[in-house]
Amino acid sequence: MGSWDSKFRFHSRLASAKIGFMSQTPTFWVRDIPIYGDVVLSPMAGYSDVPYRAVCRAYGSAMSYTEFVPVEALMGRQSRNRFWQRLDRAPGEYPLVFQIFGNNAQKILNAAQRIEELEPDIIDVNMGCSTRKVSGRGAGVGMMPQPELVAKTFRLLSQHLSVPVTGKIRLGWDDTQRNYAEIARIMEGNGASLVAMHARTKLQQYGGQADWEEIANLRQAINIPVIGNGDVRTPEDIDRMKVVTGCDAVMIGRAAIGNPWIFNRLQREKLSPEQITTAVKYHLCEMVQYYGEMLGVVLFRKHLKQYLAEMPWAELLLPQMLQMTDFAGLFSALTCMGEPVR
Ligand SMILES: Cc1cc2nc3c(=O)[nH]c(=O)nc-3n(C[C@H](O)[C@H](O)[C@H](O)COP(=O)(O)O)c2cc1C
Repeated sequence: MGSWDSKFRFHSRLASAKIGFMSQTPTFWVRDIPIYGDVVLSPMAGYSDVPYRAVCRAYGSAMSYTEFVPVEALMGRQSRNRFWQRLDRAPGEYPLVFQIFGNNAQKILNAAQRIEELEPDIIDVNMGCSTRKVSGRGAGVGMMPQPELVAKTFRLLSQHLSVPVTGKIRLGWDDTQRNYAEIARIMEGNGASLVAMHARTKLQQYGGQADWEEIANLRQAINIPVIGNGDVRTPEDIDRMKVVTGCDAVMIGRAAIGNPWIFNRLQREKLSPEQITTAVKYHLCEMVQYYGEMLGVVLFRKHLKQYLAEMPWAELLLPQMLQMTDFAGLFSALTCMGEPVR
């Protein structure tokens, strides 16, 4: 147990040393919240939990979004269901955005008021989720064809909450309804402090190509900060999106899974095995610290697959590592993997 503790302490110090560069002047503001840096981890259900956010912040993600939470789950009597857990915050995690979704302005407000007690820095309304279960009932991107609902939601939230209110949208429902500029103006006119946009329509889901030109148009259409999102896969893409669109920050989702180095604009292919295993072990420690050993190790497997996908020896070792249930064994295996081959 002693050695665990020292490993945790070592890796926590690594995190707080903030591997990424932090400028002293905020890159932009979300109303009165300063944001340092221009690359942000996407909210991703199943991935952007407390441990992975800690890893990404250590490597330079400028702010944290929770996984999205349905407002209905926040209104029941039960005060600790799995959705509430999504609103956990690591000590010192700042700024933290709570992301919620719903299809009724008053219910969204009620839930937001309830979770404001947990002291988020920002509350965000998800208007981008394209799954049928969410969008089909008028929540997520299902809000975009309902400008009046968007107006009422942002009006109520900005009137009754003390924290800044933001939204994450898509281009619109389909190519015949790319109404993002109208929706973003409505959001701004009703008190929103930032718009993040995944530059695809609902119909596209995650296919086709994200249309960065539309992010450039959005930047021109409103005066509050804009975060661009969609198909940023490499450090070069980060800077390319910034140049093409003029956005204030770039949000990275899928390409950040198993690749936190991207927030530091590091090329994954150029990392040494030791650099890779240092981050992977840090993530494992965070998982076990947060979820406990058994669950932490099991939930870590999906990350491990992504981390080791391109590592030498991975094909040989990964199947065994995915069977492991104890922290110490997995940690040692990772340590061996990171050692130089002699
Ligand atoms: C597994 C998964 C879960 C996601 N969960 C959320 C979510 O909870 N909230 C949200 O706003 N977007 C969510 N998204 C969308 C991403 O935030 C992002 O908009 C999308 O993946 C496009 O960015 P990318 O091309 O960098 O992946 C999710 C995406 C994935 C792949």
